[in-house]
Amino acid sequence: MRGLILAGGFATRLRPLSCSKPKLLFPIVGVSLIEWMARWLSSDGVKEIVLAVNHLSDKLKVEVGHTIGDVTVAFSVEEKPLGTAGPIRLAANLLSKDDPFFVINGDIVSDIDIRSMLAVHKEKKAAATIALVSVPDPSSYGSVLTDSDGVVRKFAEKSGAISSTNLVNAGVYVISPIVVGHIPIGRPVSLERDVFPRFAENGGMQAWIHEGFWYDIGRVSEYVRANKELLEKEAPEGGPAVPGAQGGMHILRPAYVGAKSRLGVGAKVGPFTILSNNVTVGDEAIVRNSIVFEETAIGEKTIVEDSVIGERVVIGRGSRIGRGSIIAGQSIIPEGSMVPPDSIILC
Ligand code: GTP
Repeated sequence: MRGLILAGGFATRLRPLSCSKPKLLFPIVGVSLIEWMARWLSSDGVKEIVLAVNHLSDKLKVEVGHTIGDVTVAFSVEEKPLGTAGPIRLAANLLSKDDPFFVINGDIVSDIDIRSMLAVHKEKKAAATIALVSVPDPSSYGSVLTDSDGVVRKFAEKSGAISSTNLVNAGVYVISPIVVGHIPIGRPVSLERDVFPRFAENGGMQAWIHEGFWYDIGRVSEYVRANKELLEKEAPEGGPAVPGAQGGMHILRPAYVGAKSRLGVGAKVGPFTILSNNVTVGDEAIVRNSIVFEETAIGEKTIVEDSVIGERVVIGRGSRIGRGSIIAGQSIIPEGSMVPPDSIILC
């Protein structure tokens, strides 16, 4: 089975972190989102994926290359954004003309069983099958109403209009080639608003309810939640050694220290802290409850709390980054800076 990952959005809700880094390269417990996705899909027997891109596509092409583990990657590049359905039409030649394929939003971390979804899709002879997950508050997601046989009846994209269900669109679909012909060529088209509701009206859409883990990291709060929950799962208290950690450092679990990261004398990292690869934490610095992207340098005696720090940031010595701050990639914070809580620093 092959499929397409939608990765051409502007990720406005992840700004300023997404100004210099495509969403697929955001680190999730030190591993890029695309690597998480490739591992998930590979474990379901997927061997080929197409990345539908436009925004920051050069960066993605360079970083991702043509393979991730045993998954082959092809790129379909749009000249202008085509929404969530247009890219499927554009990449039709790279997808199967005879067999169903999957389409996934490029901001999902999950273990949805694509193989079982495909089996249900075929059994029900659906035009499209959509994975649904139950969330406590569906108001910021697209709710989906089904009948008792799991046939999709109604969509309400991010409107909160359907209050009788907590089931929301998980951003993972199995699609039969017949759907592709219903997507107009060369203009932005939305799967959720334009294409699926028409198939749902005719009873051609099936739901698949997922009960495992699922995160949509499209908002900073959800991105942080996904990292912290997965960190706890991957490196529980008393679990295996923190990857990349050197001896004699003060690391409070749960914490993740990426390869080639260095901690100075008396530096304290954790709990709930993730340092990506090649991060430097200076002597006596404290990094707590925070996510730090790769190649960032935190000066000595600096304190970082409850914050997200982008890639290749330099924070001068003796600074204090207030709780809830977000610092864009490549920013330079001068020595002794007092960054107030909830600051957003653009680069
Ligand atoms: P926001 O600007 O924060 O809404 O982010 P987004 O547009 O990246 O995400 P959204 O949730 O709106 O889109 C769902 C998925 O579709 C994401 O993985 C996007 O990358 C992707 N996507 C959205 N628009 C396009 C597009 O025009 N082309 C392609 N190829 N993908 C898109």
